[in-house]
Amino acid sequence: MNILSPSILAADFKNLGQQITDVDNAGAKYLHVDVMDGMFVPSISFGMPVIKSIRSISDIVFDVHLMIMDPIRYVKEFAEIGADIITFHLEAAEDPQAVIDRIHELGKKAGITIKPGTAVEELIPFLDSVDMILIMTVEPGFGGQAFIPESYDRIRSLRKMLNDRELSTDIEVDGGITIDNVKSVLDAGANVIVAGSAVFIGDAAGNTRELMKILNEG
Ligand code: DX5
Ligand code: ZN
Repeated sequence: MNILSPSILAADFKNLGQQITDVDNAGAKYLHVDVMDGMFVPSISFGMPVIKSIRSISDIVFDVHLMIMDPIRYVKEFAEIGADIITFHLEAAEDPQAVIDRIHELGKKAGITIKPGTAVEELIPFLDSVDMILIMTVEPGFGGQAFIPESYDRIRSLRKMLNDRELSTDIEVDGGITIDNVKSVLDAGANVIVAGSAVFIGDAAGNTRELMKILNEG
C-alpha cells in the first residue's frame, strides 16, 4: 500500500490545526513531523510542546523524523507524547540497534534513515529489525529543495536488498517530491511518500487529493 505523509514543516503555522485537519480529511494516512536540533542539521524546527498540542487534532499516524544527535536520549519522550513511528538518523546514533530496540520496547514502530551521502549498504545490519527505512532525497535540514536524481538508484538498490531477504519493509522518501516525480519514485520502489511544499504550498486539501490519486494508481 502507498501512503502519503504530508510534512508540516511547510505548513502555515498560524493555521496549523486547520491544515492538519485538511490533509487528514483529504485522505493522508500519516503526518510527517520533522524535529531538528540545530546540531545534526543547521536548523531548529519545533519540539515536544508543539507535537503534544497537535496530537489531539486527529488520530492520523504521527510519522516523526528525528534530525537530532544521539536520538536515544529522547525516544521515550517522543513515544509518550504520541509519536507512532519514530525514525532516526543512522549517522546520529552511536548504537543504532539500541535505538531500534528502545523504540520497540516502547511499543512504537522504528524507522532508520540515511542522508544522501551515506551508502545504502550501511543499512544492511538493521534491515531485519526496522519497520521502515527512509531514504533522504535531499540533504536534511530544509524544506523546498530539489530532489537529488541519484536517489532513484538508491531506492532501487534498497528495494532489491529487501526483496533478496524476502522483506516487505516500507521505504519512505523525503525531500523534493512533487506531483511530477512522485510516480517515478513509486516505480523505483518507495511506498511512503513525504511531501512538504507539494502539499502545503497552495491548497493543502486539493494537493493531497491530487497526490493521493497517483499513489492509489501506483
Ligand atoms: C527536510 C525534511 C523534510 C521536508 C521536506 O529536512 O526532512 O521532511 O519537510 O520538504 P519538501 O517536500 O518541501 O522538500
Ligand atoms: Zn522529514
